[in-house]
Amino acid sequence: MHFQWYPGHMTKAKRMMQENIKLIDVVIELVDARIPLSSKNPDIDELAQNKSRVILLNKNDLAHKERTEEWKAYFEAKGYFVAMVNSKNGNGVKAVQNIVMEACKEKIERNKKRGIINRPIRAMIVGIPNVGKSTFINSFAGKACAKTGNKPGVTKGKQWIKLNKNVELLDTPGILWPKFEDQTVGLRLALIGSIKDEILNISDLAIELIKFLQEEYPQVLADRYQVGEIEEPLAVLEHIADVRSCRKTGNELDLDKASNILLDDFRSGKLGKITLEKAE
Ligand code: G4P
Repeated sequence: MHFQWYPGHMTKAKRMMQENIKLIDVVIELVDARIPLSSKNPDIDELAQNKSRVILLNKNDLAHKERTEEWKAYFEAKGYFVAMVNSKNGNGVKAVQNIVMEACKEKIERNKKRGIINRPIRAMIVGIPNVGKSTFINSFAGKACAKTGNKPGVTKGKQWIKLNKNVELLDTPGILWPKFEDQTVGLRLALIGSIKDEILNISDLAIELIKFLQEEYPQVLADRYQVGEIEEPLAVLEHIADVRSCRKTGNELDLDKASNILLDDFRSGKLGKITLEKAE
């Protein structure tokens, strides 16, 4: 499978981030807890040099709990402050405030020594499209300050959301594009739905998911689609099409429709809490 994705937007988004990052003390980076590495853009390390760093493992509700704990430890070992959050229902969001303060402790101390008291910490949210930045900002700020949606740049102008006397948040998130040099990164982003399905062969994607599930979560396919002893991935997909009555006119199995069912079930968490990549 080969992926190519919006290379034109990349430079513009990066430039916007370079401008904004000068103004801030701490970068709050959202990643998808199901694919913490593939949803993390490596450029941010260069852009955020000398800034305090917080990583939020978002969509925690959809990810495998133990794996998320392992990822938390992985990033902490690299010097990040880490929190697990579900921006959609607000779980874990409140705790982010303390983590941000903790991440900025040295900066606050330094300011104090220089006689700068009461200067709020300035934070910026960054992440790849669809990772949940707008949802998080809404939840964190406690009111509808940022519009949610898939379009980059829904909010206009540079505005600071005053969270409290200690922290201000730039209301425009920094949008980073994922890196596509590695095809497995593209595949994982496609599986969680961060790449538009129209540009992909949906049944190839479903076959990849079936192979992964057989390897890592063997019970899932049996429980949800009663695949029994079927092993060959294409045969599994045909079975799903059959049990879900996915048929074209002429009674032929509709594998695209079955693929969409399988992928939707995975993306919405109906297959259970599943993480696609392991912390080394
Ligand atoms: P972005 O600004 O980074 O592009 O992402 P945005 O907040 O628009 O969120 C993208 C999608 O991810 C939204 O779903 C949003 O509801 C969902 N989302 C964000 N955080 C979480 C989370 O912690 N858990 C889960 N399960 N979902 C999350 P959508 O389908 O595009 O919109 P909607 O139908 O939920 O409104």
